[in-house]
Amino acid sequence: METSYEFPVYARLGMEIAEAAGANVLTSDGRELIDFYGGHAVAALGYRHPRLVARLEEQARRLFFQTNLVEVEVRRKAHEDLARFAPTGMDRVFMVNSGAEANENALRLAFRDRERTRVVAVEGGFHGRTSAAAACSHGALDKWYAFPATPFDVTFVAVDDVKAMEAAIGDDVAAVILEPVQGLAGARDLDPDFLRAARTVSELHGAWLIADEVQCGMGRTGRPFAIEHAGVVPDVITTAKGLGGGFPVGAVIARTELVEELPKGALGTTFGGGPLACAMVSEVVDTLCEVGFIDRVAELGAAIRETCCVGPVVAVQGEGLLSGLLCDRPAKTVLAALRQRGILAGGATNPNVVRLMPPLIIEHVHIDALRSALLSIDPLGKDATS
Ligand SMILES: Cc1ncc(COP(=O)(O)O)c(C=O)c1O
Repeated sequence: METSYEFPVYARLGMEIAEAAGANVLTSDGRELIDFYGGHAVAALGYRHPRLVARLEEQARRLFFQTNLVEVEVRRKAHEDLARFAPTGMDRVFMVNSGAEANENALRLAFRDRERTRVVAVEGGFHGRTSAAAACSHGALDKWYAFPATPFDVTFVAVDDVKAMEAAIGDDVAAVILEPVQGLAGARDLDPDFLRAARTVSELHGAWLIADEVQCGMGRTGRPFAIEHAGVVPDVITTAKGLGGGFPVGAVIARTELVEELPKGALGTTFGGGPLACAMVSEVVDTLCEVGFIDRVAELGAAIRETCCVGPVVAVQGEGLLSGLLCDRPAKTVLAALRQRGILAGGATNPNVVRLMPPLIIEHVHIDALRSALLSIDPLGKDATS
């Protein structure tokens, strides 16, 4: 519940979660819900995952924290694991603490390398709340940006508009930043042709392509990274959210040749790459790399698309377990009805989209429960909206 000591910045759902296990959360008044929200796509392996719990405890006993000025084996291992998980040739990693920080550093690197003045981003995209990441987040300036100026110029192009993308990228562009599947916009998957055009034209003009996979990365779409569906290798991938399975951590993953000459001090962080976070990254990556794990994510995503276009849902968008249920009424009312039926899901900037980003360990029974809940929602939209 909201306390009077807190900044009043969150629109709460009116429930308190006391504990959670697997894909289920338990409220403090004893209700159990299936968590299709996943704490904003963070709980990649669900809750109380035995590997994460055991490893976190073991790492806490061994080495709780150390500075980046010394070598730490668990950090070395996390870098190696993440590089292995990333597309071939992208094998340099810089660990940070959040998605915004990952994007901030990726953009900084692009400006440093390219010595240019502009960024191209996509309408509907969200990249975080720090100043550079927010400047590339569509609509932020009108809604919550709050700084007196943006640090650089940004050109926004319409979703899937190849011609607009081609026209926007010029020799003054340091980077193109995009989410291959736009999370906050409602799990909107960008057209592979649009992604390929962004790659081709950015390369032509010597601009970096930054794939923001903070939400859609780490196996969530049924591939290690969502941009791989389009066969595109970007220059930089940023990721966070599911990366630590719930432990705060973000990462910038770059093509080797772009960063191997960086001078000492070009980037830095106090907490990024901490031993606890790195231990969680290795456990998450190892689990995602288990035979069949990521294929199963794709299969579960397909099951959502095939079975959940029912009740108030008129179409399903997204990839894998980052799905948007496009509804015939405001998502708010559908979300409230779902909560009454024991399903927790999320909203999106598109007011008619229910966003699903459940733990990647959900099972078909959970999807069946979602389908039944959707089917039971009043076709005339007369459900209570508590
Ligand atoms: C695609 C994307 N990029 C960046 C961010 C910012 O991440 P964080 O909240 O960890 O700073 C988010 C958060 O929702 C996101 O969805």
